[in-house]
Amino acid sequence: MDLKRMIRVIPDFPQPGISFKDITTVLKDPDGLRFTVQEMARRFRDRGVDLIVGVESRGFLIGAPLAYELGTGFVLVRKPGKLPAATLRVEYEKEYGTDALEIHRDAVQPGQRVLLVDDLLATGGTIAAAARLVEELGGVIAGFAFMIELAGLKGRDRLGDREILSLVRYDEG
Ligand code: PRP
Ligand code: MG
Repeated sequence: MDLKRMIRVIPDFPQPGISFKDITTVLKDPDGLRFTVQEMARRFRDRGVDLIVGVESRGFLIGAPLAYELGTGFVLVRKPGKLPAATLRVEYEKEYGTDALEIHRDAVQPGQRVLLVDDLLATGGTIAAAARLVEELGGVIAGFAFMIELAGLKGRDRLGDREILSLVRYDEG
């Protein structure tokens, strides 16, 4: 399946010079959605994954069906102030200023093997921050799965020597 053909590329969105990769065109296609989830499941089915962690918001769209497919639970990493119970927070650098992510403190048990999922790997700042939350709770990173990797931004260099799956790569940033 040519997933790349299903991704809608929008020039100069949300600002001039950015070539936006729109995954809504994949998600609305039954074959595109199923292929995405099944390819991720195929790679990680035998890796002893106990839990999927997805990052708000687009990571939820792929992470939750992947958890269902693998028969694991699903945990949300959210933007600040959204999670109702006791949380752990991490701040990380964005292009302009800092941002933060949170996870429920009881969401991951020590020793659980966690697969982190997001739609897109760009600089890697977001997913590296999510991984820090998981590790602070004692989780073990089993790997990372993305629909899209912007390889030119070298986000994978921030993720250490761990299993990284991306289904579609773009060489540009
Ligand atoms: C986008 C994308 C990834 C992140 C990748 O999310 O969905 O989560 O940026 O960028 P990075 O690798 O440079 O950190 P965004 O923050 O736009 O939010 P959204 O998923 O809620 O749309
Ligand atoms: Mg996102």
